[in-house]
Amino acid sequence: MTYNNIFLNTNNHITTITINRPNKLNALNIETIAELHEAFKTLENDRNTKVIIVTGSGEKAFVAGADISEFAHFNVNEGTKLAANGQKLLFDFVENLSKPVIAAVNGFALGGGLELAMACHFRIASANAKMGLPEVSLGVIPGYGGTQRLPQLIGKGRAMELIMSASMIDATQALNYGLVNHVTAQEELLPLCEKIANKIALNSSVAIRSAIKAINAHFKDGINGYDIEIQEFGNCFGSDDFAEGTTAFLQKRKADFPGE
Ligand code: COA
Repeated sequence: MTYNNIFLNTNNHITTITINRPNKLNALNIETIAELHEAFKTLENDRNTKVIIVTGSGEKAFVAGADISEFAHFNVNEGTKLAANGQKLLFDFVENLSKPVIAAVNGFALGGGLELAMACHFRIASANAKMGLPEVSLGVIPGYGGTQRLPQLIGKGRAMELIMSASMIDATQALNYGLVNHVTAQEELLPLCEKIANKIALNSSVAIRSAIKAINAHFKDGINGYDIEIQEFGNCFGSDDFAEGTTAFLQKRKADFPGE
């Protein structure tokens, strides 16, 4: 498929998705969300991709939010549909992807941009990054999972303040809050993400898929995370990766995981 708003680059089993609408600070319109869905779906089944990095083009923005010009005239039904479709196609889809997704937050991550970063499995920011959920300043609330994922990541009181005040925090504050795992100079951002991705790519992709499922289970209503952990732990014993990982350890060599 050819994309109008994103580009993909695969190197050494790591695929970087760059959101590329620089004139709109990479704001997420409906077409970009559909393209991202397609890209994630394709990469999930691509044997050559073990880890995915998401970033924004240019030096100013990761993603400056949902595209305001697109939804400014929506009514109640259209607004509801926008949030529901977006959550299903992109934000929930990324969170539940079976391959690790790292957000490389290279500048403004606002509204839908921060929501996309929060849907990724973890986040690394450049020192110039600014993050916030400013939706109430537009008369709306975060609709792509922000009211749920922000309190999970930084705690209820901080999330309440950030959302109610529509303020932005800088990268240092985001690091303090645990919203991002690392902060680095802008030119070091992708190299650092790639370094961590390379380390992840050496491990069993089957076990990583199970770990993502078990960790996510903690945050799902009506699901007992410990039960999912038991189930996924057991499943690992049936994989070729498990046979290789344990055999390699006992033979005092590095494992070469088949990923099955
Ligand atoms: N939706 C649509 N267009 C957006 C956008 C968004 N979320 N964010 C930025 N843009 C567009 C601007 O309209 C502008 O387009 P123009 O050149 O055609 O006028 C272009 O991107 C550059 O943005 P600009 O505002 O001129 O840059 P800035 O450096 O002065 O300010 C921001 C940067 C991020 C502070 C500012 O763009 C902003 O507040 N964006 C909206 C953030 C937001 O509320 N997001 C939540 C949406 S739910």
